[in-house]
Amino acid sequence: MIFTDQSLHSIYVRLKMELASCGINDTIEFEVIDPDISNEFSGTEISILGQKYIYRPFKVWVDLAEVLHCKIHTPRQLKPNRILIRYSPLNLNKSWHNHSGVHITEKYGVGSDFSKIFKFEEPYFLNDYLRSLKEIQVDKGMKVLNLGINRGDEFKIFKEVYNGISDRIKFTGIDHCPSALKIAKKNFPDDNFNFINEDIAKIGDLGLPEQDIVISIGTLQSPDIDGKEIFRYIVQNILSKEGSVILGFPNSRYIDCEVVYGAKTKNYSESNLNLLFKDISFYKKYLQQHGFKVLTFGKYYVFLVAKKD
Ligand SMILES: C[S@@+](CC[C@H](N)C(=O)[O-])C[C@H]1O[C@@H](n2cnc3c(N)ncnc32)[C@H](O)[C@@H]1O
Repeated sequence: MIFTDQSLHSIYVRLKMELASCGINDTIEFEVIDPDISNEFSGTEISILGQKYIYRPFKVWVDLAEVLHCKIHTPRQLKPNRILIRYSPLNLNKSWHNHSGVHITEKYGVGSDFSKIFKFEEPYFLNDYLRSLKEIQVDKGMKVLNLGINRGDEFKIFKEVYNGISDRIKFTGIDHCPSALKIAKKNFPDDNFNFINEDIAKIGDLGLPEQDIVISIGTLQSPDIDGKEIFRYIVQNILSKEGSVILGFPNSRYIDCEVVYGAKTKNYSESNLNLLFKDISFYKKYLQQHGFKVLTFGKYYVFLVAKKD
């Protein structure tokens, strides 16, 4: 297939048709104008050696692969001015979200498909977590609590960012997954790190001291807990008066080793952000009512950062 001056709509329809008859191990290929030839908005008409083309930046082909639930391979340079793009359909059955059969506390443990995901190797997640840390006040002597710490990745980046003072910050991570916590404990053996193997619904029984920063990413929405109730308890009883909050809400799925944009809810085959917006609205409103200034941003994960003015 060669695409020259066709609209993106006609390319989309054609590729969807090709993909419909494509097996999991198949690859579809098409030639397009080399995006490096110019720098225009997507959709700009250009002419090369008398041939009309519609110019598209390379990002368009990456995004198109994602919306078509495909993996994009490294493009190949063809004759001058053209590249070969190859897409392979993602195996929609290869998603860790489908996993069942393990004990609930080990759903995200060592050996789970979740443990193969390194979110800090994803540019948006990394950038937005770093931004969250920059938006809040972090000082030596502070106490940081993380709900759903898993193997400790969020503490690792925190420590790297606040390198100069992190040894004078007290970190507490709670998770009910023994195998993930074992790794966290091994990675953070210093006295200023404390990992608690407990159900976060029992946070009121743990005798925790007041905390200056509370972080929880991808955890409060777990179906087995009432995340909103736990959060209300934390704001009222554990977070210091001038404390800050960082929450992360998944707006993506992991399919066949790729992160795919858009939260998914039961009974919808495509993404549906209703529940995500409802949850974020709850936390935002609740925090604003308690005098916090709230910011939300992000892509594959939506981050909510709350701090006192
Ligand atoms: C989706 S993972 C997110 C982990 C990590 N924050 C991240 O974003 O990569 C959810 C984590 O919360 C933990 N978790 C879920 N429900 C919990 C509960 N009721 N009590 C304690 N931990 C829980 C899981 O074991 C898991 O480590």
